[in-house]
Amino acid sequence: MRSPRDINAPSEAAVAPARARRAGTTRSRSTQEPARTADAHPAEVPPTRDLTIVREASLTCTACPLYRNATQTVFGEGPRGAEIVFIGEQPGDQEDREGRPFIGPAGKLLDRALETAGVDRSKCYVTNAVKHFKWEPRGKRRLHQKPNEIEVTACRPWWIAEVSILKPRVLVCLGATAARAVFGRVVKVMTERGHFLESTYATRTLVTVHPSSLLRVPDAEAKAKAFEQFVADLKLLKKA
Ligand code: URA
Repeated sequence: MRSPRDINAPSEAAVAPARARRAGTTRSRSTQEPARTADAHPAEVPPTRDLTIVREASLTCTACPLYRNATQTVFGEGPRGAEIVFIGEQPGDQEDREGRPFIGPAGKLLDRALETAGVDRSKCYVTNAVKHFKWEPRGKRRLHQKPNEIEVTACRPWWIAEVSILKPRVLVCLGATAARAVFGRVVKVMTERGHFLESTYATRTLVTVHPSSLLRVPDAEAKAKAFEQFVADLKLLKKA
């Protein structure tokens, strides 16, 4: 039987065209182009309530230039009956290579925080505001770059389709990029975290920190405290 994480796995037929296109269009680092507004437009999502069809359509998305330097689209993942949807910023290096959201260091921290909070991770759906990895070369590494407003706007129709189909009881914005995408305004995460807010997409919308921000806290004591606060936010999901 497929695990909840496998439920949205694409068919080879769906992935092949994207892979072929990438093979033809991926550019070398020296010829990478910056995002140009003329290149971006809101993604066109098929009018369906079938998440598998939406997911397969996303695999060939070229709505903004980020697809050019990413390995693949990283669509959301989780059970169809998920009552909690987490929305992050964009896939990281590992997610980009493997095509699955929140499987790298930030995802592992999220898993640990959910377990500590007593929230069943297998019943959660995880996705991102932007579905392609944005990066710049730094030596041999691919360094995460924050997506800009044009890229977030171009990608919006994908997560809106996911949330509209899943109709979660609670929507959780992980970090400022997700919160801004969901609320359509700048959200001060540290002041608006920790209680439910109403958004267009869920009557119970929670804003909290992005798990990758905890990975960057250098001091061990401060890191432990930040983790505790993150867990306290996640505990609210059990009461919702
Ligand atoms: N950070 C995100 O926001 N999303 C991922 O999938 C991984 C890291």
